[in-house]
This record gives sequence, C-alpha cells and structure tokens, in this order.
Amino acid sequence: MTIASTTTFPLRFELTPSQAARDEAEREVILSDPGFGKHFTDHMVEIDWTISEGWHDAKVIPYGPLQLDPSAAVLHYAQEIFEGLKAYRHADGSIWTFRPEKNAERLQRSARRLALPELAVDDFVESLRQLVAVDGQWVPSAPETSLYIRPFMIANESFLGVRPSQRVAYYVIASPAGAYFTGGVAPVSIWLSTEYSRAGRGGTGAAKCGGNYAASLLPQQEAYENGCAQVLFLDGETGEHVDELGGMNVFFVHEGGTIVTPRLSGSILEGITRDSIIQLAKDRGLTVEERDVTIAEWREGVASGAITEVFACGTAAVITPISALKSPGEVIGDPSAPAGELTMSLRQELTDIQYGRIPDRHGWLTRLDA
Ligand SMILES: Cc1ncc(COP(=O)(O)O)c(C=O)c1O
Repeated sequence: MTIASTTTFPLRFELTPSQAARDEAEREVILSDPGFGKHFTDHMVEIDWTISEGWHDAKVIPYGPLQLDPSAAVLHYAQEIFEGLKAYRHADGSIWTFRPEKNAERLQRSARRLALPELAVDDFVESLRQLVAVDGQWVPSAPETSLYIRPFMIANESFLGVRPSQRVAYYVIASPAGAYFTGGVAPVSIWLSTEYSRAGRGGTGAAKCGGNYAASLLPQQEAYENGCAQVLFLDGETGEHVDELGGMNVFFVHEGGTIVTPRLSGSILEGITRDSIIQLAKDRGLTVEERDVTIAEWREGVASGAITEVFACGTAAVITPISALKSPGEVIGDPSAPAGELTMSLRQELTDIQYGRIPDRHGWLTRLDA
C-alpha cells in the first residue's frame, strides 16, 4: 500500500458553529483558573483521510465525543500520533504560536513511523489558525498562561487486522492552560527507572505516539510514589546512557558554561524546546554538545562540581530545574538545591520570545489570529 497523502492544494475548511458554546461569563470563570488539560474550547478541527481520496472534508465543528466503531484500528493496535504546542496572547491582544512548522514536520515523521498518512505542513498550520479563528477568546492573558493545542491523528478503519489503516482522521482540540509554576519556578526531583525502558533500538522512541506514553505510565507511577515529579529513562540497549524524561528532554550545564544534552539517538523525542535552547545557548557564545551522557558522568559530575546545573525542557513547563535524581538506594544532587542561574535565564529568554516581550530574532513566532 502506498501512503500517499499530502494534498497538492490547500484544504478548505467548513465551519459548523457550536450551539452549546459557553458565554463570556462561563469562559471567564474557566480562564481564571484553567489548570491543565481539564477544560476544552467550544470547537475542534477534523480532517478525514482515506486511501482512495487522500485528505479531504476539512472542518471546524462543535467540540464533542467521537463516534468510533468498536473495531476501529486505533483501539486495538494504537495506531495514533499527536503533537502539543501552545498559543500565547501578547500584550496587544494578538495570538501567536511558536515554531508550528517544527511540530508539523515532527507529526510527519511520527506519521511515517506509524504508517499513517502525512499531513502537509501548511495544512497543519492552517488547522491551528482555523481553530483559533473561532475559539481565540479561549486564549488566556494572565502571565505564563496559554492555550495548549493538541493535534492528533487516529486510525479509524473498522477492521480487525494488523495492517495500516486505510481510514484515518486528524483532529485538533485546544485547552486553556494556567501557569505551570504558580509560586515561582520550583526545582524538582526526578526518578531513575532502572527496571523499565521507554524505547528500544528500531522502536518508536523518536515518534510522538500514544504507545510510548502508555509504556511510561507504570514507571511514572513509581516516580510519584517516590516523591518525584517525572521519570528518567535510560537507553534500552546499554542501560547506561541518559535518554529523556517521560515527557521532557534533559540538559546539563558544565562548569564554564558548556551545555550538554543527549544526542538524538533515535530513541528520544526531538523536542522543539530542546532545539530552541540549543540555539539560544549558541547565540550566547556557549558551547553545546549533543552526545551520549552516562549516569556515571552525572553522578561524578555532580560530586566533583563539574556539572553545575541540570534541567528538563518541553512545551508544557518550558524549562524545569532538576535538583536531584533519585533511584533505589541513591540520590544524586540535593533535592533542596535552588534553580541554577543559567537555567533560569534561558527560561526567561525563551518565554520572553514566546510572549512577545523581546524581539523574535529567529522568526520563531507565527501569528494565528490574522
Ligand atoms: C517524551 C518527550 N520528550 C520531549 C518532549 C519535549 O518536546 P517539545 O519541546 O517539542 O515539547 C516531550 C513533549 O512533547 C515529550 O513528550
């Protein structure tokens, strides 16, 4: 089967307005304390794909439950991929998103790995614009708040056979998100999973597919039970190299300001925040190394003072300082250590760009409401 799929012309979207859209008062109550992933806007995008027609029938429809046949492939074989990005309200009221073409390209790479059809980059970006055109009032304006946008693609052919689905749907939903850290950015301890891997050689670690997250839930639970915010995975092959957290990439700051992050080995997700931090660090004249990092290097570096700061990064929390790594019988670092200086200044610079407070010198922002 050929998975031909990118359209050769832009998709046109039809709008069906919601009859159950929340009024301004209801929306303001939600936006005053949105939390994360709890509330959704009034509409969603749907684009259908079939093997014979390609992408077609693009629409913005009222947010609501999907109808899926119980035999839909996604429910049995997890043929599903997704993305996560944010819309930010700037001081003048305009709405922007950050490097959406990178999310579009990553969705295309995930699609290839999961034998799903690729959606054109322009159609992806247009799908975000279309949703914001009707639901823009759901983008909050309080500091560090945003509208979290979740594009995803599922195999919805009704057929119990293990082969790529010949019917697929792409959706975009959006959820207002409160500030990740309310009382100031707080360093976290993370849990080293010694028993479980997230990805193996030739597996789906570099794809953003639901199955990877399903595999991370049990070790993530172990992290919570041990008082840690996230789980750290080592590479599945040697069990020695740092891969990434359940939902974030990891960086180490070395004495003298060199920044080190695990290389894109094929088993970690190519984070867009990761890529942006590498660029910002290089702009400052810092040396950035993308290479293997062993747990032994982490342990010895923290003990000797060669590693001065550790942080995690991803769209949701931007940058989170890591104070300590815990595992059965060992704690590397000091759980009560404050956030590192470089960690916080990179975080400030990145959020200043995202919220339009400083010039966007790399052209990373895309306006969504115009
Ligand atoms: C496993 C994993 N690694 C890294 C990231 C960070 O990626 P990004 O910076 O694109 O949000 C995420 C979040 O999307 C993730 O789920």
